[in-house]
Amino acid sequence: MRRMSQIVAIDQGTTSTRAIRFDRSGEPLAIEAREFAQAYPRPGWVEHDPEEIWRDTLAVVKAVLTPEVAGIGITNQRETILLWERTTGRPLHDAIVWQDRRTADRCDALRRDGIEPMIQARTGLLLDPYFSASKLQWLLDNVAGARAAAARGELAAGTIDSFLLWRLTGGRVHATDVTNAGRTMLYDIVKGAWDDDLLRLFDIPAGLLPEVRENAELFGETDPALFGRAIPIAGMAGDQQAALIGQACFTPGMVKSTYGTGCFILMHTGDAPVLSQNRLLATPAYTIAGERAFALEGSSFVAGAAIKWLRDRLGLITAADETAAVAGGVPDDHGVWLVPAFVGLGAPHWRPEARGTILGLTLDSSAAHLVRATLESIAFQTSDLTAAMRADGAIRPAALRIDGGMAANDWFAQFLADVLDVAVERPACRETTALGAARLAGLTLGLWPDLATVAQGWRADARFEPRMTAARRDGLLAGWRDALRRALA
Ligand code: G3P
Repeated sequence: MRRMSQIVAIDQGTTSTRAIRFDRSGEPLAIEAREFAQAYPRPGWVEHDPEEIWRDTLAVVKAVLTPEVAGIGITNQRETILLWERTTGRPLHDAIVWQDRRTADRCDALRRDGIEPMIQARTGLLLDPYFSASKLQWLLDNVAGARAAAARGELAAGTIDSFLLWRLTGGRVHATDVTNAGRTMLYDIVKGAWDDDLLRLFDIPAGLLPEVRENAELFGETDPALFGRAIPIAGMAGDQQAALIGQACFTPGMVKSTYGTGCFILMHTGDAPVLSQNRLLATPAYTIAGERAFALEGSSFVAGAAIKWLRDRLGLITAADETAAVAGGVPDDHGVWLVPAFVGLGAPHWRPEARGTILGLTLDSSAAHLVRATLESIAFQTSDLTAAMRADGAIRPAALRIDGGMAANDWFAQFLADVLDVAVERPACRETTALGAARLAGLTLGLWPDLATVAQGWRADARFEPRMTAARRDGLLAGWRDALRRALA
């Protein structure tokens, strides 16, 4: 028999489901991806069909699976939540996606009740509909029969990792990992346990929730009926934490920023959470072999989603990779500003009711100016997040490691380095999130002995040094602050 030394990572993201097979050196050997439908049943609502996600997961894994595969790692869009029946595995409703704002009023009411400091102290999070708790409460209160079925112990709840694990193990395992649990707003990240007070506050029966595990451990085995053999599921993490691992940010102060649907910047803060004074989040980074690591996170909800909007709704580009040439083809943004608050604004503003705004249009504003303003806005948002990190006491990082679709855009990477005044590094392996999940599974299965070995495998393929003058940077950031102020007025 050939040596089983490869790992398949399932990367279940906000807009696509992918499977990537990695070899022992962390090189991607095969990739299969499916985009899936986004449902917008009402303004501000976003849902996913769990059956479509499941079908796509099976299809993409089958497409890359070979006899050399020793195990599977799972990484996923975080916070997105659903309920399913324990006996049949049938979802009761579409999953409510992290971008969904339907529970904004509920979160407002809790904030008015003065609950936010308690929530922040226990979960590291801030009161916003982004997180799972208010969405799960909504499902229990609004799906016919859900609350009664939950009381009878007939239902399971979980984020997408948990749902996929349940389905992959043929309904034998109901578990999640510490990074996904840490985004529900029901999990005490210091004690490392579901929090009874928060369960009461959101009226959620404890019996609905999965068991919480470390990131690199044996979660279960695939049902042999699915892939013809039982394959160990040996690693799991939310996608932003998986990217932190894929970027080998294992020591305090190391920082990565991922430009997927949204932009999520995570800084490793060591073995204790740093509770932000500047509206950032404290979040579990990973727990491996009993060692806990935490991160300070700046979450902004729109990055690649804005590029998709330029392509699919405005038709200004036909492919995302055109944006570098289009933006670089004009000398500046011509005073056009975009505030990409399409699903409200996340950190550090937390304004779920905000909406996208374009400012500064004149009769000679062109499509290229709007494309450029869009790319610039994503860099400005990153700058707001790094400024909040500095205000929370973070030291200036040696470099920012970037990944995700937009990291391939050289114009954007250079502009980001210029605006942050920090070097930006792009890794040789672009599949950073999936690589992180593969690393976790490989650690469990002995492909890599420890994190130090994993860190040695990280290589940069490009480094962008800041080269903008301070005067120009200050001018741009002042313009951005003005645009934000007007968009939020
Ligand atoms: O918190 C939401 C995040 O996990 C979604 O990630 O990669 O789909 O933008 P992504």
